[in-house]
Amino acid sequence: MSPYFFYKKDLLFAEEVSLAEVAERYGTPCYVYSRSALENHWHAFTSAFGKVRHRICYAVKANANLAILQIFAKKKGGFDIVSGGELERVLAAKGEAKKIIFSGVGKQHAEIIRAMDVGIGCFNVESEAELERLHTLAMQRKKVVEIALRINPNIDARTHPYIATGLSDNKFGIDASEVVSLCKRIQATLPYCKLIGIACHIGSQLTELSPFMEALDCMLAIISMLKTAGISLQHVDMGGGLGVCYQNETPPKITEYVSALCSKLQNSGLEIIIEPGRALVADAGVLLTRVEYVKSTPHKNFAIVDAGMNDLLRPALYDAWHSIKAVKINQDISEKNYDIVGPVCESADCFGRNRSMALKEGDVLVIDSVGAYGACMSSNYNARPRAAEVMVYQDKIFLVRKRETVQSLFAEEDVSVIG
Ligand code: LLP
Repeated sequence: MSPYFFYKKDLLFAEEVSLAEVAERYGTPCYVYSRSALENHWHAFTSAFGKVRHRICYAVKANANLAILQIFAKKKGGFDIVSGGELERVLAAKGEAKKIIFSGVGKQHAEIIRAMDVGIGCFNVESEAELERLHTLAMQRKKVVEIALRINPNIDARTHPYIATGLSDNKFGIDASEVVSLCKRIQATLPYCKLIGIACHIGSQLTELSPFMEALDCMLAIISMLKTAGISLQHVDMGGGLGVCYQNETPPKITEYVSALCSKLQNSGLEIIIEPGRALVADAGVLLTRVEYVKSTPHKNFAIVDAGMNDLLRPALYDAWHSIKAVKINQDISEKNYDIVGPVCESADCFGRNRSMALKEGDVLVIDSVGAYGACMSSNYNARPRAAEVMVYQDKIFLVRKRETVQSLFAEEDVSVIG
């Protein structure tokens, strides 16, 4: 658990706010974010870069709540987006268009046009087909767009296969062997696309430095081949991917990761861009959930909580491990092994198996380190409204997203049309 969430006697706090109070005031399930954690992680990245020319583009997909985006926008940060929806969120949070990078393999016409019109900083192009579409749209607008090519370096990020993106059988990026000829083609025949960089993102939740270093070597080799071909760039974008500790992983520290990048790239003279998501927000958020029932069978004990896989999908989708704790430590109950499960009608709806806990009906639990890929991956499965989201700062509590109402879930449906 991050230092921003800690016990005072037997009660869990987020900064100076009691989480029992948050659960009382805003109900459960409820995401709680620590603003201080977010800001400190941001500063950890910027201070690690020191005077080295860089840009941190927060990967919006990790948590797109406007409050979080606004905090990073106020730090003059950049953003890495993957959809028109994320673009609008960044603009709504007063993020600077010029500092936006647009990644993703499936950018649609309308999304590209909108991104061009607001003047984003760079399109990270993932295929030749996308390059042609971008060029056609830019030419129609008589506006040169700045682009980077996302490279697929065929490197094993040694992470969960669902979040590995840098292998040649992944859909992402352009094969490293094709990059130089494509760059030549851009220069020779696509005047409305200005190549300003190369990018890569080999996966998420990386717990070792070596795959990043392998990717860097591949990028440096490409930079040098381009130089030989007379093509110079402005930046190199190393994507996101830095892991966090959920259980007992020992990922590189932010400072180690940044200085490793800087030491290899400093002499290139290029601006270094990174797109961290998880490392900025994961341990800045927890999910509060209440025990609805305790159910003991001849085989197992279940604690059935009011959050479900619709609220937090990571355990069901990736078998991800998140620490689960009581908001108020029960001194008078003995610990037992529980499966902590949600109410959704799927056996995958389980947040943790065989967790030793002292709990009873009505207790509030906290699921830890869910600031990244938590709320943003939630759904309305089983007609469940999305959870409230709260931000705390010192002793203050702010409701940054109201709990959805059930009515809003079917407000767009119209039965009159079928008679
Ligand atoms: N840049 C690009 C192009 C990406 O695809 C991603 C994440 C990032 C940056 C940010 O990566 P990070 O620093 O957060 O590792 N839902 C999964 C994670 C999916 C990550 C997808 N891409 C999870 O819950 O673990």
